Amino acid sequence: MDKFIIKGGRRLTGEVTISGAKNAAVAILPAVILSDEPCVIENVPNISDVNICLRILTEMGAEVTKLDANIYRIDPTKIDKYCVPYETARKMRASYYFLGALLGKFGKARVSMPGGCPLGDRPIDQHLKAFSSLGAEYTLSQGMIDLHSEKLRGSQIFFDVVTVGATMNAMLAAVKAEGLTVIENAAKEPHIVDLANFLNSMGANIMGAGTDVIKIRGVERLRGTTYAVIPDQIEAGTFMAAIAATKGDVLIKNVIPKHLESITKKMEKIGVNIEQFDDSIRVWVDGPLVKANIKTAPHPGFPTDMQSQIATLLTLAKGTSIITENIWDQRFGYVDELRRMGADITVNGKVALVEGTGKLMGAPVKACDLRAGAALIIAGLAASGVTEIEDIFHIERGYDCMEGKLRALGADIEKVSI
Ligand code: EPZ
Repeated sequence: MDKFIIKGGRRLTGEVTISGAKNAAVAILPAVILSDEPCVIENVPNISDVNICLRILTEMGAEVTKLDANIYRIDPTKIDKYCVPYETARKMRASYYFLGALLGKFGKARVSMPGGCPLGDRPIDQHLKAFSSLGAEYTLSQGMIDLHSEKLRGSQIFFDVVTVGATMNAMLAAVKAEGLTVIENAAKEPHIVDLANFLNSMGANIMGAGTDVIKIRGVERLRGTTYAVIPDQIEAGTFMAAIAATKGDVLIKNVIPKHLESITKKMEKIGVNIEQFDDSIRVWVDGPLVKANIKTAPHPGFPTDMQSQIATLLTLAKGTSIITENIWDQRFGYVDELRRMGADITVNGKVALVEGTGKLMGAPVKACDLRAGAALIIAGLAASGVTEIEDIFHIERGYDCMEGKLRALGADIEKVSI
């Protein structure tokens, strides 16, 4: 097992380049299955969730060739298995995208119930509702989901909750279904639009991605394509919080400012300066940080995946901040660890009160999930003294070489094996 050792108190300065978006890549890679020809995917982040996707594709019979550090050629035409092994699939949440892709291409799929960050109840009822609407039958047994359909037909799908995963899966299953599918109450995250753009680049007919109504006309076949994954808005937001927490000054490159709007607005309210350019933003702090109230919401609201990072920043701001987590019912797991570092946070159900004590002290802590781990890195960078973070495998699921990028910005962070 590895851990990070951080000596805090150093300002982050210089330039950092953001990698491809985890939550787009883990949907686009399974979507390659739908193509009748090889595809080349660029700007793929080097993270463990992506490596699991690539391993699953290989185990199914696809030919996966690494053309460059972040570019893969995938030939799905030799896939001859429709089952995603339990041990592999249960390691991450996004394994369920293989359900939609395999169903959409072959009319059958067998995938384990998904794993992923422990954020409380993570049902898949809306995914199953979408598949059933399109004409598929499913059974659940021994932790596996079996899907089968003689013929997928377009249908009206209305989601009871706004769900990223089920919106993605409905698109994957519907692109080759006969006729028109209308998805209502669809999620609008940037990665939803990225998947739709990828599928359309293969010849799909998807309209309205990024709004709450997505229309999909089924097509006979999907051709090969070359496609670049969008930059990761949450990685960019995480660096924004780390720069602010260390009162740094950094140019963050390879971003789409529009995707960062809700994060930028909150950061500016806290007292962070942000200058926007076409595909980069400059982030710096030259004054006091002040409290803010955060309510997480589906896009374009403040992303839940930034909740723990901004909470950490707010421990350094003046005043009492209120954080309301509206998406997940257990996403304050990082609070106990921040308390070890001197944070004064009170959690009551969906709401956390963050006292701006203005300082943190280094301590031995543990990452309990991906974004909680990112929050502990931010805390360690800002704290006085040394912070040791264990269970960093959570962090490496979704951040591409975080310690290398931080070291290049002047942080004193190293990864050691224990
Ligand atoms: C995706 O998870 C992301 N993961 C999560 O990011 C992110 O927190 C979440 O979307 C919300 O933005 C990936 O994209 C791989 P949902 P997902 O379906 O798809 C309820 C990270 O840190 N729901 O949008 O699993 C659910 O309980 C990870 O990168 C149902 O009730 O989330 C939740 O309350 C963590 N039934 C809400 O919807 C369903 O069938 C949103 O979940 C599905 C979801």
